[in-house]
Amino acid sequence: MKRAARFGPALFTVLALFASACSKSSPGASTSPSPSVSPTPEVSIGQCETKQGTQPPTAPKGVDFKTQLKEPGVLNVGSDNDFPPFEEIKPGAKTPDGFDVDLYTEVAKRLGLTAKSTTTNFDALFTSSLPTGKFDVGVSAVTIKESRKQTVDFTVPYFKSDLSLAINTVKTPNIKTVDDLVGLVVAVQKGTTGEACAQYLKSKGKVKDVKSFGNTGPAIEDLLAGRVAAVINDRPATQGYIDRGAPTLKVIQIIKTQEQYGFAVSKEKPDLRKAIDDQLTAIMRDGTYATIYKKWFGTPPPFAVPIQ
Ligand code: ARG
Repeated sequence: MKRAARFGPALFTVLALFASACSKSSPGASTSPSPSVSPTPEVSIGQCETKQGTQPPTAPKGVDFKTQLKEPGVLNVGSDNDFPPFEEIKPGAKTPDGFDVDLYTEVAKRLGLTAKSTTTNFDALFTSSLPTGKFDVGVSAVTIKESRKQTVDFTVPYFKSDLSLAINTVKTPNIKTVDDLVGLVVAVQKGTTGEACAQYLKSKGKVKDVKSFGNTGPAIEDLLAGRVAAVINDRPATQGYIDRGAPTLKVIQIIKTQEQYGFAVSKEKPDLRKAIDDQLTAIMRDGTYATIYKKWFGTPPPFAVPIQ
């Protein structure tokens, strides 16, 4: 289902007004904060941190990567296309756009392929879609995570991220930090690092319950409607929703998780994974990455690329 169908009409009115009121230099970027605005506070919660880990991906078989494609000449990409500014299908559009989309389109081009995106459930990427060969790759702001390496391989990292705690400034203005969530319900997207972090907080009695949604859009919508107290989600994506016109949505705390995103690739396609690695590294080295980053985030990358 497309995001347009899930968000209520009221939000879309707001989105439309917002879009017409703002003329932005980049399609996904927030306007840079004015110097007088104090930076968003940060917290570290050990169990919420997601380090890349050490398990190496499956070794290449030494065959032409093209023999590992699902369809000749096509890079079949599975994405949960509801995660601005990484991938989203804008109202009225048929195909997704976003930072990830530009990146995998460039990778495909350099490999002599055409990228084809299919919308899929995020958590199904690891449990079924990639292991069964439904897609060649999963590109969906996927955090490289040790547990996911049981079923998929990852490319080199291409993005650094943290989680964030977001509130509704009208309905839940008194929440200032994760410590204010005791007795409250938090919304997350199912199968994500945000969900794992929220579940950890619940196990410690720091939140009452975790409401998991199949996509991030409905989790944010629940917060905007006042049905939950907060959302825990990747910071740049929550910012993506704010930028698309949710004036009561606010990131109040950054949960430092040091996540790194990678393309997830079927373990049956190790030569394809290696070919993508080479192109991603070249794209990061030759400045193309910085151009794509600036287009969507409005600034040069705030981390060194290639990512260490
Ligand atoms: N980075 C987080 C994770 O890997 C969330 C990604 C969600 N992506 C999406 N397109 N909905 O768990």
